Amino acid sequence: MRVQIAPSILSFDMGDIRRSVVELVSAGADLIHFDVMDGQFVPPITFGCGLVKDLRAVGDTPFEAHLMTSTPDRHFEAFARAGCSRVIFHAEATAHAHRLVGDLHERGLEAGLAINPGTPVEAAVPLLDVLDLVLVMTVNPGWGGQSFIPSCLEKVRRLREAAPDLAIEVDGGIDPDTIRAARDAGATVFVVGSYLARAESIPCAMEELRRRCI
Ligand code: DX5
Ligand code: ZN
Repeated sequence: MRVQIAPSILSFDMGDIRRSVVELVSAGADLIHFDVMDGQFVPPITFGCGLVKDLRAVGDTPFEAHLMTSTPDRHFEAFARAGCSRVIFHAEATAHAHRLVGDLHERGLEAGLAINPGTPVEAAVPLLDVLDLVLVMTVNPGWGGQSFIPSCLEKVRRLREAAPDLAIEVDGGIDPDTIRAARDAGATVFVVGSYLARAESIPCAMEELRRRCI
């Protein structure tokens, strides 16, 4: 399965975000990861579907929305219309994850389920036959620039064993060292925020990440 690097725009300067997304796309980003926070599910508030819509004109690189929100299904239609091809919601935000996966598929979206560091991997196991992706959080959601939590990789290993063909994404604290550990555990999609946002050269940083996760 091809590995994918998914830059998160969370740590970039929102006043200059269009230029940053153009640069990330030109440097070969496989998809762009939008961290949507509602101030309820997690304390910070970030941005909504309007930003996704405005940036959709930047090429045709796939966009994914990581909904760190309560009642995630209230937002599915808006992010579909804004130009996302995948929406990831949190297992902790709903009692009806199976139904929400079906709701995403009915809208033509890929469905991802995110699990926090404190959530057992068992939360995803009943849905492995319908999910397009599981996002294993390797930090506690809400902020960029946090330290990677190595123990979360055990979940990646368990998921890879249970579902050899599943897309498994890791999100939080990813840099050239941790991307190697996550790849070895079986992850295939890597969200990278602050490592890219603070890079001198985004193309060089992307190349280093790609080199380390082959
Ligand atoms: C945190 C977000 C992550 C975060 C990753 O809640 O889901 O996508 O932006 O940022 P870094 O790579 O800085 O940990
Ligand atoms: Zn994220």
